[in-house]
Amino acid sequence: MTRVLVTGGAGFIGSHVVQTLTGAGCEVTVLDWGHPAAHRDPLPAEIAGAPVRVGDLRDPAAVDAALAGVDVVVHQAAMVGLGVDLDDLPEYVGCNDLATAVLLARMARAGVRRLVLASSMVVYGEGGYSCARHGQVRPGPRVVADLAAGRFEPPCPRCGEPLAPELVDEDAPLDPRSVYAATKVAQEHLTAAWARQTGGAVVALRYHNVYGPGMPRDTPYSGVAAIFRSAVEAGRSPRVFEDGGQRRDFVHVRDVAAANLAAVTATAALGGWRAFNVASGRPATVGEVAAQLSRTARGPQPVTTGEFRLGDVRHIVADPGRAAAELGFRARIGLAEGVAEFASAPLRG
Ligand code: UD1
Repeated sequence: MTRVLVTGGAGFIGSHVVQTLTGAGCEVTVLDWGHPAAHRDPLPAEIAGAPVRVGDLRDPAAVDAALAGVDVVVHQAAMVGLGVDLDDLPEYVGCNDLATAVLLARMARAGVRRLVLASSMVVYGEGGYSCARHGQVRPGPRVVADLAAGRFEPPCPRCGEPLAPELVDEDAPLDPRSVYAATKVAQEHLTAAWARQTGGAVVALRYHNVYGPGMPRDTPYSGVAAIFRSAVEAGRSPRVFEDGGQRRDFVHVRDVAAANLAAVTATAALGGWRAFNVASGRPATVGEVAAQLSRTARGPQPVTTGEFRLGDVRHIVADPGRAAAELGFRARIGLAEGVAEFASAPLRG
């Protein structure tokens, strides 16, 4: 029986991961601090039968105690989202990078050599694009004047002509565009260095836009699915930014949990460090998702506001091929089915 420590196992994604791992016969322990950005209520004593240890990953003693007898660590603990302002910066770096550094150091000391890392598609920045004249190009950050004038599509950096969005694969260059994204890139680099130095195995799962039951309610740290869902529940219209044509890959949280189970298994055979997109492979626009949610929940129709946020990228849609080929992971829950459940599933308080 594989013994797994799930950090952040009391969170939205983490608790689904715990449920899937215990369901597959793993012996799971949770280490979670109950970060106030993600938890309003005290943590439960157990999740799906897995005991919950309340402790901060930045505390080596708490990590050592949780690592005893463990074969694999599934590292979900992180502070996510755009945040409120730059006062959040030290907390992002502390929770995501310092905490990961402590975890890796203590794993090395304890002889635990297998790690699954919850990474994110935010490491890519903008997705893939091609220009009719220049082939594959990488647009820079969009400028305020363009966004304010409603020009949301990034132009070709060489000729200024429109671009076609393409699927992003794992070999795309990393180009973080926010504090959170920078901390996720650092996690990837730290775990890669750790794998080289210890001879250990790391599977980094680059989650796309995760949604599903148990998402935290609307906070400055929430993704768009939770924000739209909270709006519908409160009888408000979801506010769709830009023109609603921005594309994302929305992947259901139970599919993400299944990807983690596949990754845990893969770390037994894989050596070194390898990244995988965790995505449905079926992109949707943010406007479509808002409309689908409103329709299903019989709530107020979305409004498209033209607002924009500087940290946002325009399109980021994934090529799920590597995870299918090497982990045997394919998302199974389609958007229509997933949104139908999500429209009435409980959110986290
Ligand atoms: C999100 C999360 C990130 C997570 C990643 C992968 C942020 C900022 N991003 O990235 O934590 O790792 O998914 O799971 O935390 N929008 C609206 N109305 C709103 C809010 C947002 O239309 O009320 C739009 C945004 O302008 C953007 C899109 O929805 O175009 C997605 O927003 P969001 O989910 O916040 O960010 P992602 O960059 O997709």
